[in-house]
Amino acid sequence: MLSDQEKQGIEAELENYEHKRAACVEALKIIQRSRGWVQDDGLHDAALALGMTEEELDGVATFYNLIFRRPVGRHVILICNTISCWIMGYNPVREHLSRRLEIEPGETSADGRFTLLPVPCLGACDHGPAMMIGNELYGDLTPGRIDAILEKYGWESD
Ligand code: FES
Repeated sequence: MLSDQEKQGIEAELENYEHKRAACVEALKIIQRSRGWVQDDGLHDAALALGMTEEELDGVATFYNLIFRRPVGRHVILICNTISCWIMGYNPVREHLSRRLEIEPGETSADGRFTLLPVPCLGACDHGPAMMIGNELYGDLTPGRIDAILEKYGWESD
């Protein structure tokens, strides 16, 4: 069930569009911002508010790789696996992240702090390998730089 805050946020978005369904991505983002990910009940209620079927809204949600339909950690690490970053060292950087966090791509650390997700280009191709955590973009990644970044998020060095 949508919270009052989620309902109000979606209703406010609906006023910006001639057709309700045009607000579908914003509605999903509102739910995700408040819960961390989009559960089935939120999707159901949002679909009703948007005049869409659950299947239609789920199709939108699963099309966008930054709308999460499964639980994620408090910090989602989006690591670029597109060509420039791949050439510049995606594999060793990704392997280092996996070793440090003890997770493979698509998984969440045991303490629920980090989820590691490979994504297409982050627009930092001239500074590959690159990754984002929240709104922070990190480029020119090396294993040493990753250790320093993880420490910023409270992850202890080995
Ligand atoms: S290819 Fe990695 S940021 Fe563009």
